Amino acid sequence: MMNKPKDWVFSDPRLQDLQQDYDAYTEEDFEVWKILFERQIVNLPKAASQAYLDGIKEIGFTADKIADFEDVNKRLKASTDWAIQVVPGLIDDDLFFGLMNNRRFCSSTWLRKMEQLDYLQEPDMFHDAFAHMPMLTNQPYVDFLEKLSGLALKHIDNKWAIELLSRIYWFTIEFGLIRENGELRIYGAGILSSAGETKFSLSDEPKHFEYDVRKILNTPYWKDKFQDKYFIIESYEQLFESLPEIEEVLEEMVAEEAK
Ligand SMILES: [Fe+2]
Repeated sequence: MMNKPKDWVFSDPRLQDLQQDYDAYTEEDFEVWKILFERQIVNLPKAASQAYLDGIKEIGFTADKIADFEDVNKRLKASTDWAIQVVPGLIDDDLFFGLMNNRRFCSSTWLRKMEQLDYLQEPDMFHDAFAHMPMLTNQPYVDFLEKLSGLALKHIDNKWAIELLSRIYWFTIEFGLIRENGELRIYGAGILSSAGETKFSLSDEPKHFEYDVRKILNTPYWKDKFQDKYFIIESYEQLFESLPEIEEVLEEMVAEEAK
């Protein structure tokens, strides 16, 4: 893996050249986007990180228009030089990390149905777009994502290493909190696309820990209910600057497992 050129992923036969078919969205799709958007956007000024609030403006999302990836890509190009890669759903880890290591964020294009507003088995584009894409305008955040993915590629043949790095991804990109002006705010996309978890994550019910690489690497997570613990960063630079420690502790834990 390490000897391949960095952009190997673009010539990988598994990567399909998928596009968002914007004209195929139905009235129900627009209605679902609008309901989810309006329901959640009112919660965010007091709950979301400033980076997210700035990002959603920069990326131009509104309640009346399902995210248009062509427009998103123009705005991201001018912002952090990232882009959206349409994927059919879950893809292999090496493609997922390979794309992010080349500044491509994976997104689906389908929206949940009206009767699934609150529960989904698999992330739809409301999650991928509304919750993830605004954060892609934040430079230290995307630099962290790019380098974390590079680290995952380095260890891609080791299941345990990928599980450990998934914990970092999970407790930061999906379920991370940040402290801003002395208050807890959300930047994790898994929380930002859930009205229920937005409230829960900031309440006194779950445990809140300071960002701690070793502790996160030792913390398993679950996907089918709210987390019972969240980790708080002080800045997005802190994430980026923790990469050498992630690599060091990861290699230590991988070596330990191999004994
Ligand atoms: Fe996600």
